[in-house]
Amino acid sequence: MARIPDAFIDDLLARTDIVEVINARVPLKRQGKEYSARCPFHDERSPSFTVSPNKQFYHCFGCGAHGTALKFLMEYDRLEFLDAVEELARAAGMEVPRETRQHNINPDTQATYDILDASARFFRKQLETSPQAQAYLDGRGVDAGTRERFGIGYAPAGFNALRDALGSDERRLKLLERGGMMSRNDSGRVYDKFRDRVMFPILDRRGRTIAFGGRVMGADDGPKYLNSPETPLFHKGRELYGLWQVRQAHNKIPHIVVVEGYMDVVALFQHGVDTAVATLGTATTPDHAELLFRNAPDVYFCFDGDRAGRAAAWKAVESVLPRMKDGRQAFFLFLPDGEDPDSLVRQEGADGFNARLKEATPLSQFLFDSLAVDVNLGTLEGKGRLAERAKPLLAQIPDGAFADLMRQRLTELTGVGARASAPDTHVPTQRAHTRGGQHPAKRSLVRGVIALLLQSPALGLELLPPYRFAQLRQPGVDLLCELLQLVYERPGIGIGSLIEHFAGREEQAALQKLAAQSLPGEEAAWRTEFHEAIARLEHQTLLQRVEELQQRLREGGHAALTAQERTELGETLASLRR
Ligand code: UTP
Ligand code: MN
Repeated sequence: MARIPDAFIDDLLARTDIVEVINARVPLKRQGKEYSARCPFHDERSPSFTVSPNKQFYHCFGCGAHGTALKFLMEYDRLEFLDAVEELARAAGMEVPRETRQHNINPDTQATYDILDASARFFRKQLETSPQAQAYLDGRGVDAGTRERFGIGYAPAGFNALRDALGSDERRLKLLERGGMMSRNDSGRVYDKFRDRVMFPILDRRGRTIAFGGRVMGADDGPKYLNSPETPLFHKGRELYGLWQVRQAHNKIPHIVVVEGYMDVVALFQHGVDTAVATLGTATTPDHAELLFRNAPDVYFCFDGDRAGRAAAWKAVESVLPRMKDGRQAFFLFLPDGEDPDSLVRQEGADGFNARLKEATPLSQFLFDSLAVDVNLGTLEGKGRLAERAKPLLAQIPDGAFADLMRQRLTELTGVGARASAPDTHVPTQRAHTRGGQHPAKRSLVRGVIALLLQSPALGLELLPPYRFAQLRQPGVDLLCELLQLVYERPGIGIGSLIEHFAGREEQAALQKLAAQSLPGEEAAWRTEFHEAIARLEHQTLLQRVEELQQRLREGGHAALTAQERTELGETLASLRR
């Protein structure tokens, strides 16, 4: 993927008014220095969604949604990153730097979309003239409307049907290969990959054909389903079969049902469950999880009840946990032996299937049940084991009410709290310095500096690396140095992008909270406060060094220090007395 230079993004965001961008989509009300509205990312009655023109970011105190104008467009208009950049750039009258534009308008890319689209049309046409393929679909009860809705077609037998129809010249044949439609044998001969199969086109989020799945009609002929290989247009870990159709069927998708097979999606739609998607013969990936939740707040995962199904469900759990922001829910439904959603919905109809969804197991329960499956919770040992297993998983849940409730549940089950011990990179919290003992003031100092920096990143430009206090052993110092370094490298960076830099890291939530506070006082006062705090940090660093050297002197006598260190000790002590 071509990258857009960070400096361009910083500049773009600096020239964009986030209030204008959001107000055009969600009407905002002015409230003092900020604007507010009911949050577009979760259901609420009173507004907890705020937009700050000074900080140029939005933040929801209810669900924790937050970000820059760019992130808002991605989440709200469901745009891809590049498309959101283009959109803002257009509004700001800026030109997106060349390298990326070229990437976007690669002539082969558009031509590949076109030839895949033509392939889908070709297969549909072939279905009309293949009694055998029609009989197969009849036999499986797929009606005409459903065939059309999913663009189902037929790839003829033989080795050259598609090649002859669309690959007549060298360039078009290359495009068919690029789109994954051709195979090549050892002697270099190029021939149709899909032969004598019922064809299911796979559409991307804009409804363009990017790949196919093809099913054999007999029992004997190779694998049951053949899928397009990974191509420049198709990454199976990021696509979901049926998502386009689900989005077409709803303005606001209430929930999504994830099943395993093409035919499951097709049958569910035909019987009125028009919220079904399928992964493409792979486990649920984190990309899938994000894509699902971007489209709907509630996601139901359907699996076979057997061991393979349980294993697949566990993979889904692992992919979903880091995406469980507040307001999102995941459920797990296990089907009776020998049934799949296709067979069930035919027997029970949409009502029967929906009734099963209602009974689905919530993520919380599935997670604890699975972890405790071979554990005796009547013993301390068992409780300890459950706690050990649960902690790393719970640590992946983004901060918020759900994460708190999950930890609370673990405590109920085991009596053990799940707060991981804080490594140095953590933003020191109130909790950390009331519990910590000796130097409460020092700890809040680092936090205070971070808070100031988040209000006004430009303050960081007044310090130059290397930072003398980097050696200070206090929670949050590493994080502070990282933030300062970032500001130093990207002088135009805004608060939103600063926080975005920590996407996927545990520090992000805490940083976001600090950034969302409104600090009292004026910017000029912050500046003084910032420099005073930095001076105190430097002072503490010197003290720490002196203590260290003196400790070694006490333990090992004069010889424990080098001549240079003895000079350093003397000078440091002198400077501290000044
Ligand atoms: P299933 O065999 O459960 O699919 O495989 P299904 O849709 O129920 O199949 P039929 O048509 O009713 O018999 C589930 C999914 O796994 C992938 C496909 O994506 C399929 O939809 N798969 C399965 C393959 O990629 N290759 C295979 O050979 C089999
Ligand atoms: Mn099936």
